[in-house]
Amino acid sequence: MVTYKSDLSNVDWDEMKTTLNKDAFDNGRTPQQLQVSFQNSYATCIAYIDNRIVGTARVLSDGICNAYIVDVWTFTPYRRQGIASKMITLLMEKLPGQHVSLFTDDALEFYKKQGFTERETCMEKVVGRWLVNHL
Ligand SMILES: CC(C)(COP(=O)(O)OP(=O)(O)OC[C@H]1O[C@@H](n2cnc3c(N)ncnc32)[C@H](O)[C@@H]1OP(=O)(O)O)[C@@H](O)C(=O)NCCC(=O)NCCS
Repeated sequence: MVTYKSDLSNVDWDEMKTTLNKDAFDNGRTPQQLQVSFQNSYATCIAYIDNRIVGTARVLSDGICNAYIVDVWTFTPYRRQGIASKMITLLMEKLPGQHVSLFTDDALEFYKKQGFTERETCMEKVVGRWLVNHL
């Protein structure tokens, strides 16, 4: 059975890092950086099976008009069982009235199924060096 939690108090950040790394979805954050980025999010969702982390999703938001979904991931052995869809649904329930955006390279079909539409424009910039910050 899959359990979905928004509470971050008992998250094993080392386990999250290890599983992301095993699944080739590690973007380089340390366990501490993962913790801070989740804790500083507007809303989060972590999926568990047998107390092991099998999915993540989080959203940055101003609480009024603009939100940005990031870190959407389901551990490979558990894909195509509706886990990411459920995580997105749970996050979106916390974003009424807001414009929600995201970046994706490979998951267009997944997001289209969640009701997102594709836009041509995107601009980006890393300030300084990626992940070189206060932590
Ligand atoms: C994209 C991802 C999060 C989907 O997670 P998931 O838990 O398997 O998604 P769901 O089971 O909720 O999929 C719901 C629907 O989305 C679509 N979908 C999901 N993965 C898909 C894929 N690889 N190709 C095409 N359609 C896909 C399907 O329509 C699916 O419904 P179906 O299984 O009944 O056909 C997962 O494949 C993943 O973690 N990928 C690597 C990380 C990533 O790319 N994240 C997005 C970054 S922005």
